[in-house]
This record gives sequence, structure tokens and C-alpha cells, in this order.
Amino acid sequence: MEIVIAPHSGFCFGVKRAVEIVREKAKKGKVYTLGPLIHNPPMVEKLKEEGILTISEDSEVRGKRVVIPSHGLPPQKLENIYENADEVIDATCPIVKNAQDMAKFLEEEGYEVFIIGDAEHSEVKGIAGNLKNSPVIISSINEIPEKIPKRVGIVSQTTMDIFRAKEIISGLIPKTQELRFINTICSAISLSQQALRNVLRKVDGIVVVGGKNSANTRRLYEISLNSGKKTWWIERGKELKREFFNGIKKIGITAGASTPDWIIKEVVEYLRKF
Ligand code: F3S
Repeated sequence: MEIVIAPHSGFCFGVKRAVEIVREKAKKGKVYTLGPLIHNPPMVEKLKEEGILTISEDSEVRGKRVVIPSHGLPPQKLENIYENADEVIDATCPIVKNAQDMAKFLEEEGYEVFIIGDAEHSEVKGIAGNLKNSPVIISSINEIPEKIPKRVGIVSQTTMDIFRAKEIISGLIPKTQELRFINTICSAISLSQQALRNVLRKVDGIVVVGGKNSANTRRLYEISLNSGKKTWWIERGKELKREFFNGIKKIGITAGASTPDWIIKEVVEYLRKF
């Protein structure tokens, strides 16, 4: 079975940066991230061994060296950390920060802010939480409200699929008088999605490697699934079974932005055995 790894698979710049910042800090003692540092459970588990631990409650930050994860946090949580932690280590990706700033800018310019993204994702909560008024958050064309304001300013979750964003924006255009979209989709994400689309043309199936809690990995999975090609979404190589690949001559691999190289290598090793 031939194996093709899609370009731009695995760690993006923001995740790499966050892991490096935190590893450096952990050399001087334990650090605690409020929520997982990145959306990849096996990697978070590995970081635990290096003294990089995850806490989940706001009350737990008191007296600790606390890390703000790569996808950011809403302002209320940040306030609590800055007030109560011993040290604050900000590993928020600059591109996520930019999305927050652009949403604020649109609000200041008098637009009603719309965020294209998943309302439950901490990054979207972070963008929304920085605004004076509650934004409208939509993740699909079906969620466009009946009535929308005359001046709409849109930003997107950084990991949004560009085609989905385009579809939503096309749905909004006929309903408003003025629409301004600031493209806050991260280029690392667009590149990995495009690379996957190219690889899909050449292979019989795709193994998507990444955390089940990772939004960008989910999008890769959806893109592959929607192409009609056989698709498996795994976190570790051991989840693969020989019988999955009966009749498959060429298999593609893609990986989410929080998937480290060592897991991609592990998956390749498993596939080579089949
Ligand atoms: Fe940042 Fe883009 Fe990665 S927003 S965390 S570089 S996916």
C-alpha cells in the first residue's frame, strides 16, 4: 500500500510556539494550563510528564503558574487568572489574538458583529467575550437569522473551512445593506485543507490524525468524508486495523494542527506494517 502524507499536516505555527513557550517555562517548575494547552489528548498526556498539567476550574488558578492556551480564553477567565495566579504565561496564538482585535475593530466601526464559527469553542468564546455587545454566532447557512442588521461586520473562527464561510457570507449578502468581512481564517488551516483536497484526488482513502476535541481536525475529517472517499479519524496508530485497508492501494494521511510529528510517524509505521 502506497502512503501519501498531505503537505501542511500537523503542528501549525501557533501550536508549535505554544508548546515551545510552555516547555521552556516548565524547566523551572510545574505549570498549569486552564483547559488543555492544545486539542490533542495524547500530546497533552505526554506534556504532563514534563510538569505541564491541565486544570479545569477557574478556582484552581490561585497561587499557580498558569498558562493561557493557544486558542485563547474569554476575558472573564483572563481577569481571574491575572488577579489570582502567581505567574501568567500567555501562549495564545497571535493569529487568534488578531481575530479578537478585528472583531473589536468592527464593533467600534459601528457594525453588528457576526462570528462564523462554533459557539461552544473556546476561541469563539474568546472573540465574543471581548466585545461590548453579544455577537451573532453562526456555523452554517441554516443558522442565518430571519432578520439581520443593516451593517454587518464578520470575522471567522481561525479554523473555519473557507468554503463554509463563503456559503454563509453568500447567504447574508441579500439580507443586508452593508457587509464587511475581515478574513481571520488562519492560512495554516486553509493550506492544510487545500492540500487534503489535492491528495483526495489521488488516493483511495484517508487517515485523519488528530484529537477528537480538535475543531480543525474535525473539518479535515468532514472534507474527506464529503468527498466520498473512505475516511478514518484516529488519535493514535494503534486504532488502525489491517482489515480497514482491504482493496486500498494508495492511502493518504492528513493531520490536525495540534498533532505532533511523533504521532504522524507512528501512524506511518502502523500503515507500513499492513
Ligand atoms: Fe494559530 Fe492558526 Fe494554529 S490560528 S494556533 S497558527 S491554526
